[in-house]
Amino acid sequence: MIQLCMLDEIAEGRAKGFDIGNKSLFAVRKDDQLHVYYNCCPHLGTPLEWLEDEFLDPDGVFIQCATHGALFNVEDGLCVHGPCKGKSLRPIPFETGNGMLMVDEALIQSLGRI
Ligand code: FES
Repeated sequence: MIQLCMLDEIAEGRAKGFDIGNKSLFAVRKDDQLHVYYNCCPHLGTPLEWLEDEFLDPDGVFIQCATHGALFNVEDGLCVHGPCKGKSLRPIPFETGNGMLMVDEALIQSLGRI
C-alpha cells in the first residue's frame, strides 16, 4: 500500500487529487464518508478537475468534469448528467490506518482507459 495523505487533509465537501506515476486519482469527502476514484472521465478519458483539487460543481453536490460538464454522484460515481450519462467513474478501493489514506500501488499502475 502507498500513502496518499492524512485523512484530515480532505475536509468535508472537498476533494484532493493525487498523481501516482502516470496515473491520477482523487478522493472526496461527503457526509463524512471518503470516496476515491480514478481521475479519468468515462466520456473521453480526460482528468476531471478544472483547477488543482477542484473536482466538484459550484454547489459542492456533484463531481463535475471540467471538459464537457458531466455530473457524477459523489457516493457511487454514476454520471447523472452529460455526454456519459449512465456510465460511472471507476471507484478505487482504499484503506485507512494511523490517520492515513492508502491505496494499492500495483492496482493503480494497472489502471487503463475506462
Ligand atoms: S470528457 Fe468529461 S464530459 Fe467530456
